[in-house]
Amino acid sequence: MMRTHTCGELRVQDVDVQVTLCGWADRVRDHGGVLFIDLRDTHGVTQVVVHPEDTPSVFAIGETVRAEWVLSVAGKVAHRPDGTVNPDLHTGEIEVVAAALEPLSKADALPLPLDDSPVDERLRLTHRSLDLRRERLQQNLQLRARIVSSIRQAMESQDFTEIETPTLIRSTPEGARDFIVPSRLSPGSCYALPQSPQIYKQLLMVGGFDRYYQIARCWRDEDARADRQLEFTQLDLEASFCHEEDVYQWVEKAVGAAFEVGGRGAHFTPPLPRLTWHDAIRLYGTDKPDLRAGAPIEDLSSLFLETEFQAFAAAAHKGAVRGWRACGGGSRSRKELDLLTVRAKELGAQGLVWMVVEADRKLRSPIAKFLSEAELAGVRNQLHGDPGDLLLLVADEARVCSEVLGALRVEIAAPRGHAVEDGMALLWVTEFPMFEPGENGPTPLHHPFTAPHPDDLEKMQTAPFEVRSRAYDLVVNGVELGSGSIRIHDRDLQERVFAAIGMPADEIASRFGFLLHAFRFGVPPHGGFACGIDRLAMVLADEPSIRELIAFPKTQSGADPLSGAPAPVTVQQLDDVGLLLSPEVRAQLAGKTAT
Ligand code: AMO
Repeated sequence: MMRTHTCGELRVQDVDVQVTLCGWADRVRDHGGVLFIDLRDTHGVTQVVVHPEDTPSVFAIGETVRAEWVLSVAGKVAHRPDGTVNPDLHTGEIEVVAAALEPLSKADALPLPLDDSPVDERLRLTHRSLDLRRERLQQNLQLRARIVSSIRQAMESQDFTEIETPTLIRSTPEGARDFIVPSRLSPGSCYALPQSPQIYKQLLMVGGFDRYYQIARCWRDEDARADRQLEFTQLDLEASFCHEEDVYQWVEKAVGAAFEVGGRGAHFTPPLPRLTWHDAIRLYGTDKPDLRAGAPIEDLSSLFLETEFQAFAAAAHKGAVRGWRACGGGSRSRKELDLLTVRAKELGAQGLVWMVVEADRKLRSPIAKFLSEAELAGVRNQLHGDPGDLLLLVADEARVCSEVLGALRVEIAAPRGHAVEDGMALLWVTEFPMFEPGENGPTPLHHPFTAPHPDDLEKMQTAPFEVRSRAYDLVVNGVELGSGSIRIHDRDLQERVFAAIGMPADEIASRFGFLLHAFRFGVPPHGGFACGIDRLAMVLADEPSIRELIAFPKTQSGADPLSGAPAPVTVQQLDDVGLLLSPEVRAQLAGKTAT
């Protein structure tokens, strides 16, 4: 071994031990002729001291050392002198007195600082190997590794078998655009990179493995966002002979284990709360509610059926009047309240009514004079308004009311993207709609193998958008952590779903034929789930983007500034797979304008 200890390991009980440490020179300081080098590795920092009188040749080398050189230091562990103990460091009570010092490699001047100072992300990603040395990324990637390890243990303890599925496949039905990989052996044909192992995990169920899991890499050609990358990782699982409740329990055990190693076990108390999709939209205006952001939205329509205030009367009959209480929000200035109205309109409402609960419990509002005392009291009581609270009301279509109030709710609780508050609020959102309106009629909200709710089967052809599905999402703090569903295992039902989405037989056969073929030979009832590992780690690390939890992420525009990917390939490579670049693309690559 090149070293006897790591840089995070030595304590007072090691005093007088001869050690050899290796690491990077974090800081080099010359204090009145004595040299201090903070030696850093992934485990911590140890102070090395070099005395010019005792070890002049070592001192001579030490004087040449610059930040981020890699060093090997041999010496004896000593107590730090009184008054120089550093309580912020695990190794802060000791130092290593250098008897030998060998530079293992030198470092050029650094293109970016390695402390906490903010650095342009492109610069960070261009020099990612340096960026990775920062404490933040060291911690985040260690945490991620612990999370994955705890998940594996949890899945194995629940008798799930880890099975790998291929990454060069035919396209999967997740709904994003596929990344395609041209084939040399079949010129003109392409593989797709899996958007998820969806079809293969269902095939594994047909294959008799009744509890499968995998830490699976997935690829989706979609616009990157803070919680989306072109390639990402899922805890993917599927099981046979199960209901929703079984899946919830398995997932709660795995995610609970991750919360435990992430130091957030106290926030994870299974069974997690459940909310149907309809209730989530009604109460929070979103299918990803952040339960920390204050009270739910209330429906006030019944208060205004007879009102003389025409705007509310019309909405109460044809749509809804809904309200939300911003606890303690009444101190806003008139200008701030006007800005909230502007924001509500941007979000799609025709307007916003605000009411401030005064000390005497009266409501101050530009529309107070149009409402009766009973109506005002009704609003205050139903919204549980206390003095100092701000009540916000929207009269519109029911869904618009909830969506606008729901968005304001989160924006008020977390101004300018700040975290709402410390804490974790998890829940299951269940019974998603089976279909959403698409360009050519109903399209599956999840994927076409999701089972419809058994009570809604007769609506499949007549009222497809009212059909509930057996799909569920796991949500934490307003972030979708994962989703899944109980699948269809009955051929007739599967055909009815394909008919409802109007998918032509040839498309069904070409996209899913191999799954449907397998389903002819005895398919067990099954269901599953996939949880985004990057997102889970992001939430547990309290980071604003999954890029902070991925060693080598892509930029928002899908580029890797480190390697320069994506990059043009040679004509020979294109030739091999039977591809030709269009004249426009060739001109662009040559830096010319296409004619
Ligand atoms: P879904 O498409 O909802 O379901 O994905 C499941 C989870 O994967 C994560 N995720 C992503 N993470 C980072 N970047 C992305 N681009 C990205 N896309 C998805 C999210 C999401 O909740 N096969 C189904 C699951 C099933 O039915 O079993 C599926 O993949 O955390």
